[in-house]
Amino acid sequence: MALAKAWSVALLGVDGKVIEIEADIGGGSPRVTMVGLPDTGLKEAKDRVRSAVRNSGRTWPDERVILGLSPANLPKVGSGYDLGIAAAVLAATGSVPATKLLNTVLLGELALDGRVRPVRGVLPGLLAARNAGYRRAVVPAESLFEAALVDGLEVGGVARLSEFADWLKGEGELTHPEPGVVQEPPRVPDLADVVGQPEARWALEVAAAGGHHLLMTGPPGVGKTLLAKRLPGLLPRLTTEESLQVTAVHSIDGSLSRTEPLVTVPPFVAPHHSISVPALIGGGSGLAVPGAISRAHRGILFLDLTDWPPGCA
Ligand SMILES: Nc1ncnc2c1ncn2[C@@H]1O[C@H](COP(=O)(O)OP(=O)(O)OP(=O)(O)O)[C@@H](O)[C@H]1O
Ligand SMILES: [Mg+2]
Repeated sequence: MALAKAWSVALLGVDGKVIEIEADIGGGSPRVTMVGLPDTGLKEAKDRVRSAVRNSGRTWPDERVILGLSPANLPKVGSGYDLGIAAAVLAATGSVPATKLLNTVLLGELALDGRVRPVRGVLPGLLAARNAGYRRAVVPAESLFEAALVDGLEVGGVARLSEFADWLKGEGELTHPEPGVVQEPPRVPDLADVVGQPEARWALEVAAAGGHHLLMTGPPGVGKTLLAKRLPGLLPRLTTEESLQVTAVHSIDGSLSRTEPLVTVPPFVAPHHSISVPALIGGGSGLAVPGAISRAHRGILFLDLTDWPPGCA
Protein backbone atom coordinates (compact mmCIF):
# COMPACT_ATOMS: atom_id res chain seq x y z
CA MET A 1 0.00 0.00 0.00
CA ALA A 2 1.47 3.41 -0.91
CA LEU A 3 -1.17 5.49 0.83
CA ALA A 4 -2.36 5.11 4.42
CA LYS A 5 -4.24 7.15 7.00
CA ALA A 6 -4.15 7.62 10.76
CA TRP A 7 -6.00 10.02 13.05
CA SER A 8 -4.95 12.40 15.80
CA VAL A 9 -6.41 15.46 17.55
CA ALA A 10 -5.60 19.17 17.29
CA LEU A 11 -6.34 21.43 20.26
CA LEU A 12 -8.09 24.77 19.80
CA GLY A 13 -8.19 26.36 23.21
CA VAL A 14 -9.78 23.65 25.35
CA ASP A 15 -11.61 22.06 22.44
CA GLY A 16 -10.21 19.41 20.18
CA LYS A 17 -10.66 18.59 16.51
CA VAL A 18 -9.85 15.25 14.94
CA ILE A 19 -7.10 15.50 12.33
CA GLU A 20 -6.60 13.04 9.51
CA ILE A 21 -2.97 12.21 8.75
CA GLU A 22 -2.23 10.78 5.32
CA ALA A 23 1.08 9.33 4.19
CA ASP A 24 1.72 8.91 0.47
CA ILE A 25 4.88 7.11 -0.51
CA GLY A 26 6.63 6.84 -3.86
CA GLY A 27 7.23 8.74 -7.06
CA GLY A 28 10.45 10.60 -6.41
CA SER A 29 13.80 10.92 -4.72
CA PRO A 30 13.94 10.33 -0.94
CA ARG A 31 12.48 13.41 0.70
CA VAL A 32 9.77 14.11 3.26
CA THR A 33 7.26 16.89 2.62
CA MET A 34 4.60 17.88 5.14
CA VAL A 35 1.51 19.82 4.06
CA GLY A 36 -1.43 21.15 6.09
CA LEU A 37 -0.25 24.24 8.04
CA PRO A 38 2.26 22.63 10.42
CA ASP A 39 4.11 24.96 12.84
CA THR A 40 7.88 24.77 13.32
CA GLY A 41 7.64 22.14 16.05
CA LEU A 42 5.48 19.95 13.87
CA LYS A 43 7.75 20.39 10.81
CA GLU A 44 10.51 18.90 12.92
CA ALA A 45 8.31 15.82 13.34
CA LYS A 46 9.66 14.57 9.99
CA ASP A 47 13.13 14.08 11.44
CA ARG A 48 11.92 12.88 14.84
CA VAL A 49 9.60 10.29 13.36
CA ARG A 50 12.17 9.04 10.84
CA SER A 51 14.77 8.50 13.59
CA ALA A 52 12.19 6.87 15.87
CA VAL A 53 11.09 4.49 13.11
CA ARG A 54 14.67 3.52 12.22
CA ASN A 55 15.66 3.11 15.87
CA SER A 56 12.63 0.87 16.43
CA GLY A 57 13.98 -1.68 13.98
CA ARG A 58 11.71 -0.65 11.06
CA THR A 59 12.76 0.75 7.72
CA TRP A 60 11.99 4.28 6.61
CA PRO A 61 11.00 4.36 2.91
CA ASP A 62 13.79 5.22 0.50
CA GLU A 63 11.36 7.18 -1.67
CA ARG A 64 9.46 10.43 -1.60
CA VAL A 65 7.09 10.68 1.41
CA ILE A 66 4.26 13.24 1.44
CA LEU A 67 2.50 13.75 4.76
CA GLY A 68 -0.85 15.54 4.61
CA LEU A 69 -2.68 16.81 7.70
CA SER A 70 -6.30 17.80 7.22
CA PRO A 71 -8.39 19.92 7.59
CA ALA A 72 -5.54 21.68 5.82
CA ASN A 73 -6.63 25.19 6.79
CA LEU A 74 -6.44 24.51 10.55
CA PRO A 75 -3.08 25.52 12.05
CA LYS A 76 -1.44 22.54 13.78
CA VAL A 77 1.02 22.94 16.58
CA GLY A 78 3.13 20.73 18.76
CA SER A 79 4.54 17.27 18.70
CA GLY A 80 1.48 15.20 19.59
CA TYR A 81 1.00 14.04 15.99
CA ASP A 82 4.28 12.06 15.91
CA LEU A 83 2.67 8.73 16.75
CA GLY A 84 -0.03 9.23 14.10
CA ILE A 85 2.55 10.20 11.47
CA ALA A 86 4.69 7.15 12.26
CA ALA A 87 1.61 4.90 12.08
CA ALA A 88 0.54 6.30 8.70
CA VAL A 89 4.04 5.88 7.23
CA LEU A 90 4.46 2.34 8.59
CA ALA A 91 1.05 1.36 7.23
CA ALA A 92 1.78 2.97 3.85
CA THR A 93 5.03 1.00 3.53
CA GLY A 94 3.14 -2.18 4.38
CA SER A 95 5.29 -2.73 7.47
CA VAL A 96 2.12 -2.92 9.63
CA PRO A 97 -1.53 -3.58 8.70
CA ALA A 98 -3.81 -0.53 8.65
CA THR A 99 -6.88 -2.29 10.04
CA LYS A 100 -6.47 -1.26 13.70
CA LEU A 101 -5.83 2.36 12.74
CA LEU A 102 -9.40 2.77 11.60
CA ASN A 103 -11.60 4.48 14.22
CA THR A 104 -8.55 5.02 16.47
CA VAL A 105 -6.99 8.34 17.48
CA LEU A 106 -3.30 8.45 18.23
CA LEU A 107 -1.57 10.93 20.51
CA GLY A 108 2.09 11.02 21.48
CA GLU A 109 5.44 12.59 20.83
CA LEU A 110 8.29 10.34 19.70
CA ALA A 111 11.82 10.48 21.01
CA LEU A 112 14.57 9.73 18.51
CA ASP A 113 15.16 6.35 20.13
CA GLY A 114 11.52 5.34 19.66
CA ARG A 115 10.15 6.13 23.12
CA VAL A 116 6.63 7.59 23.22
CA ARG A 117 6.63 10.76 25.30
CA PRO A 118 3.60 12.33 27.04
CA VAL A 119 1.90 15.38 25.57
CA ARG A 120 -0.36 18.03 27.09
CA GLY A 121 -4.09 18.14 26.56
CA VAL A 122 -4.74 14.39 26.35
CA LEU A 123 -8.07 14.74 28.19
CA PRO A 124 -9.66 17.47 25.99
CA GLY A 125 -8.23 15.74 22.91
CA LEU A 126 -9.84 12.42 23.78
CA LEU A 127 -13.14 14.02 24.79
CA ALA A 128 -13.28 15.60 21.32
CA ALA A 129 -12.39 12.28 19.66
CA ARG A 130 -15.11 10.46 21.58
CA ASN A 131 -17.67 13.13 20.73
CA ALA A 132 -16.65 12.83 17.06
CA GLY A 133 -17.53 9.12 17.20
CA TYR A 134 -14.08 7.54 17.63
CA ARG A 135 -14.08 4.44 19.76
CA ARG A 136 -10.42 3.78 20.53
CA ALA A 137 -7.36 5.83 21.46
CA VAL A 138 -3.68 5.06 21.85
CA VAL A 139 -1.78 7.47 24.09
CA PRO A 140 1.64 7.60 25.77
CA ALA A 141 1.74 5.14 28.69
CA GLU A 142 2.56 8.07 31.00
CA SER A 143 -0.70 9.79 30.01
CA LEU A 144 -2.93 6.77 30.70
CA PHE A 145 -4.03 8.09 34.10
CA GLU A 146 -5.52 11.11 32.33
CA ALA A 147 -6.91 9.21 29.33
CA ALA A 148 -8.73 6.86 31.70
CA LEU A 149 -11.03 9.71 32.77
CA VAL A 150 -12.84 9.58 29.42
CA ASP A 151 -15.82 7.22 29.42
CA GLY A 152 -16.94 5.45 26.28
CA LEU A 153 -13.50 5.21 24.71
CA GLU A 154 -11.23 2.15 24.75
CA VAL A 155 -7.82 3.51 25.74
CA GLY A 156 -4.44 1.86 25.46
CA GLY A 157 -1.00 3.13 26.36
CA VAL A 158 2.35 2.58 24.67
CA ALA A 159 5.82 3.34 25.94
CA ARG A 160 7.71 2.60 22.71
CA LEU A 161 6.95 2.82 19.00
CA SER A 162 8.04 -0.81 18.51
CA GLU A 163 5.40 -1.87 21.07
CA PHE A 164 2.76 0.05 19.11
CA ALA A 165 3.87 -1.47 15.78
CA ASP A 166 3.71 -4.97 17.31
CA TRP A 167 0.15 -4.29 18.49
CA LEU A 168 -0.85 -3.14 15.01
CA LYS A 169 0.50 -6.43 13.71
CA GLY A 170 -1.50 -8.33 16.33
CA GLU A 171 1.65 -9.47 18.14
CA GLY A 172 1.30 -7.67 21.44
CA GLU A 173 -1.04 -5.92 23.83
CA LEU A 174 -1.33 -2.28 24.81
CA THR A 175 -1.09 -1.23 28.44
CA HIS A 176 -4.55 -0.61 29.86
CA PRO A 177 -5.42 1.86 32.62
CA GLU A 178 -5.47 0.60 36.20
CA PRO A 179 -9.04 -0.30 37.20
CA GLY A 180 -10.76 2.88 38.39
CA VAL A 181 -9.50 3.80 41.82
CA VAL A 182 -12.27 5.72 43.56
CA GLN A 183 -10.80 9.12 44.23
CA GLU A 184 -11.24 10.31 47.83
CA PRO A 185 -12.76 13.79 47.83
CA PRO A 186 -9.89 16.11 48.82
CA ARG A 187 -10.18 17.99 52.11
CA VAL A 188 -10.84 21.67 51.62
CA PRO A 189 -10.36 24.36 54.32
CA ASP A 190 -13.48 24.76 56.43
CA LEU A 191 -15.19 27.92 57.63
CA ALA A 192 -15.27 26.28 61.08
CA ASP A 193 -11.61 27.33 61.51
CA VAL A 194 -12.60 30.99 61.55
CA VAL A 195 -13.18 32.54 64.96
CA GLY A 196 -15.88 35.22 65.04
CA GLN A 197 -16.13 37.48 61.96
CA PRO A 198 -19.90 36.93 61.57
CA GLU A 199 -20.31 39.68 58.96
CA ALA A 200 -17.43 38.49 56.83
CA ARG A 201 -18.73 34.91 56.98
CA TRP A 202 -22.15 36.06 55.94
CA ALA A 203 -20.63 38.00 53.02
CA LEU A 204 -18.77 34.83 51.96
CA GLU A 205 -21.96 32.80 52.08
CA VAL A 206 -23.86 35.35 50.01
CA ALA A 207 -21.04 35.45 47.44
CA ALA A 208 -20.94 31.65 47.25
CA ALA A 209 -24.73 31.29 46.98
CA GLY A 210 -25.14 33.95 44.32
CA GLY A 211 -21.86 33.54 42.46
CA HIS A 212 -20.89 37.13 43.24
CA HIS A 213 -17.54 38.86 43.30
CA LEU A 214 -16.29 39.80 46.74
CA LEU A 215 -14.01 42.65 47.78
CA MET A 216 -12.36 42.27 51.15
CA THR A 217 -10.53 45.13 52.79
CA GLY A 218 -8.97 45.34 56.23
CA PRO A 219 -5.74 45.74 58.12
CA PRO A 220 -3.00 43.07 57.84
CA GLY A 221 -3.64 39.88 59.79
CA VAL A 222 -7.37 40.40 60.17
CA GLY A 223 -8.15 37.15 58.33
CA LYS A 224 -8.88 38.10 54.69
CA THR A 225 -6.77 35.31 53.18
CA LEU A 226 -8.02 32.86 55.80
CA LEU A 227 -11.61 33.60 54.81
CA ALA A 228 -11.01 33.61 51.04
CA LYS A 229 -9.39 30.15 51.16
CA ARG A 230 -12.58 28.82 52.73
CA LEU A 231 -14.78 29.95 49.87
CA PRO A 232 -14.30 26.78 47.72
CA GLY A 233 -15.62 24.73 50.66
CA LEU A 234 -18.90 26.67 50.53
CA LEU A 235 -19.37 26.11 46.80
CA PRO A 236 -21.08 22.92 45.64
CA ARG A 237 -18.87 20.05 44.43
CA LEU A 238 -18.33 20.11 40.68
CA THR A 239 -20.67 17.93 38.63
CA THR A 240 -19.07 15.27 36.42
CA GLU A 241 -19.36 17.53 33.39
CA GLU A 242 -17.87 20.50 35.26
CA SER A 243 -15.07 18.32 36.65
CA LEU A 244 -14.09 17.26 33.14
CA GLN A 245 -14.17 20.89 31.92
CA VAL A 246 -11.93 22.08 34.74
CA THR A 247 -9.63 19.06 34.46
CA ALA A 248 -9.32 19.72 30.70
CA VAL A 249 -7.99 23.23 31.41
CA HIS A 250 -5.48 21.83 33.91
CA SER A 251 -4.51 19.13 31.41
CA ILE A 252 -3.47 21.76 28.85
CA ASP A 253 -1.66 23.58 31.60
CA GLY A 254 0.20 20.34 32.39
CA SER A 255 -0.64 20.59 36.09
CA LEU A 256 -2.70 17.42 36.64
CA SER A 257 -1.86 15.27 39.63
CA ARG A 258 -1.03 11.67 38.66
CA THR A 259 -2.70 10.26 41.77
CA GLU A 260 -5.84 12.41 41.70
CA PRO A 261 -6.17 13.63 38.13
CA LEU A 262 -9.85 14.53 38.25
CA VAL A 263 -10.47 18.00 39.72
CA THR A 264 -13.63 17.51 41.78
CA VAL A 265 -13.67 20.61 44.00
CA PRO A 266 -13.79 24.20 42.75
CA PRO A 267 -10.16 25.30 42.25
CA PHE A 268 -8.67 28.10 44.36
CA VAL A 269 -6.11 30.10 42.40
CA ALA A 270 -4.19 32.87 44.11
CA PRO A 271 -1.59 34.40 41.80
CA HIS A 272 1.12 36.69 43.19
CA HIS A 273 0.32 40.39 42.85
CA SER A 274 3.29 40.84 40.51
CA ILE A 275 1.79 38.39 37.96
CA SER A 276 2.18 39.44 34.32
CA VAL A 277 -0.85 40.06 32.12
CA PRO A 278 -0.21 36.95 29.91
CA ALA A 279 0.20 34.79 33.02
CA LEU A 280 -3.10 36.14 34.35
CA ILE A 281 -5.22 35.88 31.24
CA GLY A 282 -3.25 33.22 29.33
CA GLY A 283 -1.75 33.40 25.91
CA GLY A 284 1.27 32.34 23.92
CA SER A 285 1.63 31.57 20.26
CA GLY A 286 0.20 28.41 18.73
CA LEU A 287 -1.30 26.37 21.55
CA ALA A 288 -2.60 29.00 23.97
CA VAL A 289 -1.57 28.26 27.54
CA PRO A 290 -4.30 28.93 30.11
CA GLY A 291 -3.64 31.76 32.57
CA ALA A 292 -4.67 32.06 36.22
CA ILE A 293 -8.18 33.19 35.23
CA SER A 294 -8.77 30.02 33.18
CA ARG A 295 -7.23 27.80 35.88
CA ALA A 296 -9.76 29.26 38.30
CA HIS A 297 -12.63 28.22 36.00
CA ARG A 298 -15.64 27.20 38.12
CA GLY A 299 -13.66 28.07 41.25
CA ILE A 300 -12.16 31.08 42.98
CA LEU A 301 -9.65 33.54 41.58
CA PHE A 302 -8.18 35.30 44.61
CA LEU A 303 -6.36 38.51 43.77
CA ASP A 304 -4.55 39.29 47.01
CA LEU A 305 -3.26 42.65 45.97
CA THR A 306 -2.12 45.63 47.94
CA ASP A 307 -2.09 47.65 44.74
CA TRP A 308 -5.21 46.81 42.76
CA PRO A 309 -6.05 47.87 40.15
CA PRO A 310 -2.32 48.21 39.34
CA GLY A 311 -1.12 51.80 39.59
CA CYS A 312 -4.00 53.03 41.76
CA ALA A 313 -2.26 52.95 45.12
N1 LIG B 1 -10.94 35.18 62.72
C1 LIG B 1 -9.87 34.40 62.73
N2 LIG B 1 -9.94 33.13 63.16
C2 LIG B 1 -8.87 32.32 63.19
N3 LIG B 1 -7.62 32.70 62.79
C3 LIG B 1 -7.47 33.94 62.33
C4 LIG B 1 -8.58 34.86 62.28
N4 LIG B 1 -8.14 36.03 61.77
C5 LIG B 1 -6.82 35.85 61.51
N5 LIG B 1 -6.42 34.62 61.86
C6 LIG B 1 -5.07 34.07 61.71
O1 LIG B 1 -4.18 35.16 61.59
C7 LIG B 1 -3.23 34.94 60.57
C8 LIG B 1 -3.30 36.05 59.52
O2 LIG B 1 -4.51 35.95 58.79
P1 LIG B 1 -4.62 36.26 57.23
O3 LIG B 1 -3.36 35.87 56.55
O4 LIG B 1 -5.86 35.67 56.73
O5 LIG B 1 -4.72 37.83 57.29
P2 LIG B 1 -4.91 38.85 56.09
O6 LIG B 1 -6.06 39.71 56.44
O7 LIG B 1 -4.97 38.10 54.81
O8 LIG B 1 -3.58 39.70 56.20
P3 LIG B 1 -2.77 40.46 55.04
O9 LIG B 1 -3.50 41.74 54.78
O10 LIG B 1 -1.43 40.68 55.67
O11 LIG B 1 -2.72 39.53 53.87
C9 LIG B 1 -3.50 33.59 59.97
O12 LIG B 1 -2.59 32.66 60.52
C10 LIG B 1 -4.91 33.29 60.43
O13 LIG B 1 -5.02 31.90 60.66
MG1 LIG C 1 -3.73 38.05 53.16
